Amino acid sequence: MSAEAERRFEADLAKAAAAVRSAGDAEVITHIDADGITAGAVASTTLERLGIPHTVTFEKQITDAAVERINNGTADLVWLTDLGSGYLSRFERPGIIITDHHVPDTGFRVNQTRIDDFTAIHHLNPHNYGIDGTSEICGAGMAYLLSKTIDPANRDLAYLGVIGAVGDFQDSRGTGLSGCNRLVLGDAVAAGDVIIEDDIRLFGRETRPLVQLLQYCGDPSMPGLSGDREGCVRFFGDLDIPLRDGKAWRVWNDLEVDEKSRATAELLYRAEETAAGPAMFGEVYTIPRYGRGSGLRDAKEYSTILNSCGRYDDAATGLRICKGDLTALEDAERNRENHRRNISAALAYVRDNRLIRERRFIQYFDSGPEIRETIVGIVAGMLVNSGNARRELPLIAFAESDEGIKVSARATYALADRGLDLSFVMKKAAELVGGYGGGHRVAAGATIPLGMEEDFLEIVEDLVSIQFI
Ligand code: C5P
Ligand code: ZN
Repeated sequence: MSAEAERRFEADLAKAAAAVRSAGDAEVITHIDADGITAGAVASTTLERLGIPHTVTFEKQITDAAVERINNGTADLVWLTDLGSGYLSRFERPGIIITDHHVPDTGFRVNQTRIDDFTAIHHLNPHNYGIDGTSEICGAGMAYLLSKTIDPANRDLAYLGVIGAVGDFQDSRGTGLSGCNRLVLGDAVAAGDVIIEDDIRLFGRETRPLVQLLQYCGDPSMPGLSGDREGCVRFFGDLDIPLRDGKAWRVWNDLEVDEKSRATAELLYRAEETAAGPAMFGEVYTIPRYGRGSGLRDAKEYSTILNSCGRYDDAATGLRICKGDLTALEDAERNRENHRRNISAALAYVRDNRLIRERRFIQYFDSGPEIRETIVGIVAGMLVNSGNARRELPLIAFAESDEGIKVSARATYALADRGLDLSFVMKKAAELVGGYGGGHRVAAGATIPLGMEEDFLEIVEDLVSIQFI
């Protein structure tokens, strides 16, 4: 960030902070995923501490109905977190604060934020300041930076920014969080809420039995281990690492130091053959207030719990967890089981029916009513990253939804480095067929009218082909 951009960012934060402080009441609107839920928790806790009465509502994305509700809302302040930037030109009321990291709406004019010299929309988005919103800061991180500007004592909310970033896979670009996220992480560590450790970066270090840890690891996909139960049992057997401790299945964090280093060395040796190998070992983030074996102790697992709430119309339970209400964990556990089952059924459905079709510049599948629209994006991401779909082509997935056809698009960072920007592709192609869309370079989505899938794919393919250099 240039010195000028930094000054501008600080000034904008200060102005937005003043607007929050002076509000009599507020409405927080946030996204249903882990980043959205943590962002909403930051906003809600901040308002609570200021004594400002408010509501929190969750949206899958900004729909026409949501725009109307926002424009006609009667609260002094509408605070949008982890969404809003893509639909900026449609907001027409004063008193809107947006802390988001999605690619901003290009139809938006700077002057539109001002009414008689009074700043009507406070738009806090990393892209405005030369910060990469895909990998360097998330929605919860942006909400946290505003919260900290409002009151430095809100530093105890920084860990939510870390969980949000991990939930949006911002740590998987390299081997840990980078850029502006480092600042948020530093605050979380200083507050005693996060411990940074170097370890294997697989999902489930705290709660998954050893065999499952490797068997279900899709990103990176490990030959001879991913999807191969026998192979995983052999892996630990050959290294003299018992799978059980008495009756209990051991998890990765149960391993003794020397067991862990033997297993790590072997995993890294095997990972060398895979493209994602270098990302396998690096920083992991632990939330020490939650004890050993808790599903909230590892930031990746914490974010997955939140995701599984959000994807099943139960983001409110995720919010309760983020605000420290641990009675919500039981409800969340049920959501997580459900989530796990649905994801593996969806992956199997796509694989068993060989649904993925390849075209020259893209690949796609249409799951019809079989995969829930709220998880089709996760499924597409897992297919691309696990090698079950080609890594060299963006993957476009369709699912039926109440509003029409839900589209999710996913690609690897390697493709983004070659010029691919799925956010632009989804937005543009959706608009051309009468829908709407947006998102990030490597993960974006849209909703299009039923029956427009083929036209949409044609346009997507044209746009993608132009982007590749
Ligand atoms: O729904 P899905 O997981 O595929 O969304 C990927 C990304 O695209 C999310 O960040 C989401 O907010 C964004 N998106 C959007 N507009 C849509 C659908 C998704 O900005 N209509
Ligand atoms: Zn986000």
